[in-house]
Amino acid sequence: LPGLGALARSRGITFGAAVQGQLLETEPDYQRAFETEAAILVPEWEAKWSALQPQEGRFDTAPLDSILRWAQSRARPVRGHALVWHNDIPGWAQAALAEGRHRAMAVMAAHFDRVLAHGRGQIRDWDVVNEPVANPPGSDVPQAGPGELRDTPWLRALGPGYIDIAFRMARERDPTLRLTLNEYGVEEDTPDAAEKRRRLLSLLRSLLSRGVPVDAVGIQAHLQMARPFRPAPFAAFLAELRQMGLAVLITELDMRETQEAPPGLAVRDTMVAERTHAFVATALEGGVRTVLTWGLSDRHSWLASDAGVMLRDGRTHRGLPLDEEWRRKPMWEALARAF
Ligand code: XIL
Repeated sequence: LPGLGALARSRGITFGAAVQGQLLETEPDYQRAFETEAAILVPEWEAKWSALQPQEGRFDTAPLDSILRWAQSRARPVRGHALVWHNDIPGWAQAALAEGRHRAMAVMAAHFDRVLAHGRGQIRDWDVVNEPVANPPGSDVPQAGPGELRDTPWLRALGPGYIDIAFRMARERDPTLRLTLNEYGVEEDTPDAAEKRRRLLSLLRSLLSRGVPVDAVGIQAHLQMARPFRPAPFAAFLAELRQMGLAVLITELDMRETQEAPPGLAVRDTMVAERTHAFVATALEGGVRTVLTWGLSDRHSWLASDAGVMLRDGRTHRGLPLDEEWRRKPMWEALARAF
């Protein structure tokens, strides 16, 4: 059986997954899964700020390079994730950003100079700004912020224009890149998601009206079984994005089960698969041509390691295409069917 990467490719779709370089180097099963399934890779951590520049001016590309080498020897593209984000800013950079606008601009420029030059030619897509929109008040995890943007060290240093600055700096440094704004919480049929879709659309409209070079939108798609999904509102949202001339990618798909996941793996896996199919089919119908899951197997999913999102009884979420023993689950079949 061909893997998801090959299956998707035969339909003109790119399928891949987030990867951890350490495991790719050391675990044969892990390597085999990526070899078989993933036609594109995105580093789960290795291209984040704290990985690439743990101290000011000391760049460490070794962890990223191991992924780049692996991908290059198999002619597979790598997405860059992420240049500007409120998380994973090392202490020195947080302190520098707090020193004000001039310093913040210099810090951003130095990071972009080095990192974009390093990936040049192999990384063609970058998440330039990750998660800039604030969750609305009253939502599960509300976020403060001026207006509709999330309050971040970047925003405090540079104002709401930090997004414009980041995209322009990236474009100046490498005009061949596809520059992406990546966001979560905009997929499902809840009032919070509807409001976040509205906020994201209005942000993108204003960026584009100012000529800010945004080429694509990444929809993370960390979905939750506990939330309803309806194709219609999501399809309408995709149509609006496409009308703005933006490419749309699904960048981090996985599925959190409900806290009281029903007994029986077969039942659980079927529910996850059905939801996955509904979501991915709607995305593809709406013009999405690239789909990445956030990992391949439940064994190494961030859903299993982040204590806050583990199932109450200690079981792990079964929200990725392969189970903990690398076997293909109904979610794998659902993706194959959707492609
Ligand atoms: C997560 C990683 O998977 C974890 O290992 C890490 O501890 C935190 O970051 N949205 C994103 C990703 O854009 O970068 C996050 O990745 C998951 C949520």
